Amino acid sequence: MVPLGIYLDNAATSFPKPEPVCQGVAEYLKTACASLSRGSHRGAVQVEEMFLETRSLLGELFNVKPEHINRIVFASGATEALNTAVQGLLKPGSHVITSGIEHNALWRPLKMLEREGIVELSVIPCPEGHALDPEELANALRDNTALVAVTHASNVTGAIQPIPQIGQICREAGIPLLVDGAQTGGVYPIDVDGWNISLLAFTGHKGLMGPQGTGGLYIGPELELKPLKYGGTGSASLPHEMPAWLPDRFEAGTPNGPGIAGLRAAVKFIIAEGLEQIRRHELELAAMLQQGLAEIPGVTVYGPADPAAKVPIVSCNVGGVDSEEVAYVLDEVYDIQVRAGLHCAPQAHRALGTLDQGAVRFSIGYFNTKEQIDAVLEVVEVIARG
Ligand code: ALA
Repeated sequence: MVPLGIYLDNAATSFPKPEPVCQGVAEYLKTACASLSRGSHRGAVQVEEMFLETRSLLGELFNVKPEHINRIVFASGATEALNTAVQGLLKPGSHVITSGIEHNALWRPLKMLEREGIVELSVIPCPEGHALDPEELANALRDNTALVAVTHASNVTGAIQPIPQIGQICREAGIPLLVDGAQTGGVYPIDVDGWNISLLAFTGHKGLMGPQGTGGLYIGPELELKPLKYGGTGSASLPHEMPAWLPDRFEAGTPNGPGIAGLRAAVKFIIAEGLEQIRRHELELAAMLQQGLAEIPGVTVYGPADPAAKVPIVSCNVGGVDSEEVAYVLDEVYDIQVRAGLHCAPQAHRALGTLDQGAVRFSIGYFNTKEQIDAVLEVVEVIARG
């Protein structure tokens, strides 16, 4: 593979990965001689400890109570975690509230359950790709509301939803809150305990800077979910049923050891650097990019005008030019990598009125620099001049 020029597609997957992440994966592949919970020899114990440490680090980052660390179950990413939450929790006759900027990872499982007549869905609008209004959400509650399920931040506009306020509404109504943290884990604070989050889905390969194929779901102790997958867990092999305890109940099959080794190193890296420092750096670059793009004649920038109301994503269009065409020129001519089109989030594009054109999305990561943002602004100016 060829190293790329200016990588600004960190909302799709972060790149580069911190060196300790690469080393963590390589070391696991060279030295780990066991699979989680499959064996009692020393190698197996080491793997067990590595998984436990990763759950603890994630618990520290997301403020999960230490006694609930085993309620962080690993999955292949946020999509699997969201499917586990939604399909495991919702029963026929349930009403669910979600938002108008959801990614398909949550939207499609919810729509599937709606189509099958299992749930009724209320969608709180997010005009122009901004966050929802918590008051509108409170007004949508019904007697049979069984779940509020929302993304923490839009992967198209970057808008950050008011999760603390939504959590408070859910606490008062006694309704579980599912948060899709795909775009915020490692990028923006998440406070499971303080914000009354019952279910938190996260992915390892975006802001958390870990390998693809990693992620998970925190499941609050007040909830009972049906597993999405059934099979061997390495524990209690005799019964026909899945174990009742976590994490085993939700971790059938051999888990992604090399991935979790990389994720452990990634979360350690984030904790050592400090989330505040990461946020400060990314916000500074996002503000620079957003302001610079907004000043270029013919460029339309979407979503909240205040970069602090967003994760470091800046989406725009250049006149009426197809967003895929702009992304192609950025890549082929200028070696700048972005993502265009609909970003698997047609609801957000519907809110922006960009279903036909899509948008050019620049998403910043911890390793981007001011010099790169300056270079990108110069290039977009040239493209906009035609
Ligand atoms: N959800 C990822 C993105 O926004 C894939 O690009």
